[in-house]
Amino acid sequence: MTIIVTGGAGFIGSNFIFYMLEKYPDYHIVCLDKLTYAGNLSTLVPIMDNSNFRFVKADICDRAAVYKLFEEEKPDIIVNFAAESHVDRSIETPDIFLKTNIMGTAVLMDACRKYGIKRYHQVSTDEVYGDLPLDRPDMFFTEETPIQTSSPYSSSKAGADLLVLAYHRTYGLPVSISRCSNNYGPYHFPEKLIPLIIANALNDKPLPVYGTGENVRDWLYVKDHCIAIDLIIHNGKIGEIYNVGGHNEMRNIDIVKLICKELGKSERLITFVTDRKGHDLRYAIDPSKIYNELGWFPKTKFKDGIKKTIEWYLNNREWWETIISGEYKNYYEKMYGNR
Ligand code: NAD
Ligand code: DAU
Repeated sequence: MTIIVTGGAGFIGSNFIFYMLEKYPDYHIVCLDKLTYAGNLSTLVPIMDNSNFRFVKADICDRAAVYKLFEEEKPDIIVNFAAESHVDRSIETPDIFLKTNIMGTAVLMDACRKYGIKRYHQVSTDEVYGDLPLDRPDMFFTEETPIQTSSPYSSSKAGADLLVLAYHRTYGLPVSISRCSNNYGPYHFPEKLIPLIIANALNDKPLPVYGTGENVRDWLYVKDHCIAIDLIIHNGKIGEIYNVGGHNEMRNIDIVKLICKELGKSERLITFVTDRKGHDLRYAIDPSKIYNELGWFPKTKFKDGIKKTIEWYLNNREWWETIISGEYKNYYEKMYGNR
């Protein structure tokens, strides 16, 4: 079995590759990644010499490069993680989100049509459903919830999802889609809430909380997401969407306070800053479909996952300190300097 994993030098893609190489020692895993600011080759160093693994630096929008790779590898399955993934950046510069997330998806699926594959899997997000009210804890996103996006990021992911479904209906491409809630865990780029707060707290820097901090996210340990994708690509129904996540809703402010407590840092570091434009209030997944059809449920409890995650950031300081000492400084100044 040959699987091309796009975006495998990023947060979830790298965790997925580690998981798959360990679980399926006879699979050949090819990582295609452009190495944008969010891609980190150092993450993949431990597997670079693995004979079942190949890394290829390329852009999913580069049709010639993608077709060449398909010709060389004749993949059975494509798992597309490659994307611009940060909502705040999408509010500043939407164009690259449209290009990578929509056009890139089209190029990958055109390659699948041209060369033939067993399955194209699109890694999507619960953000395509928009948000839920804070005062309706009985409401959840199901696969039938209409798409209603808030940010250029979520719109681009929704556009890609629609294209994936259209390629299935029009060309019969064997596709599946997973829509997952917020992930956390090792190798999470420190522009996102949890790693940003851990890094800032460890450096005794202010901890920026948008608005009142009451927005709610449904957090899932990254390995549980990888397990879900593994199940879907092997046993999920073709043409179907699966929501992934479930019943671990937390307010941002509570996460930040928890991290302060775990690290023995003062809550006085918490600084409320101007809210994100169009900020989604609450995400909450109903995972009944993937549970009923594939037996998936989140295995890692948040209290254990967050401890493991903090420990990882304490033990891998070089990984994130290298990131935050580079171009990230300009990003941080631009986003948080006058907030
Ligand atoms: P990330 O930003 O950490 O990694 C993205 C990776 O894609 C990077 O390695 C980057 O170099 C690569 N990439 C970007 N543009 C590319 C291009 N044009 N060609 C090839 N490679 C390119 O993202 P992540 O958090 O790991 O998210 C991975 C996927 O999962 C995304 O599609 C995202 O929408 C989705 N998702 C993320 C979450 C989450 O909580 N992080 C939740 C649900 C879904
Ligand atoms: O729900 C899935 C989505 O989760 C994925 O599709 C996205 O790729 C991923 O980035 C994530 O999006 P969010 O916008 O929810 O994640 P982020 O970590 O950026 O923010 C989480 C919450 O924390 C959100 O309500 C905004 C808030 N926040 C974020 C940052 C970076 C802060 O209060 N302060 C911050 O500095």
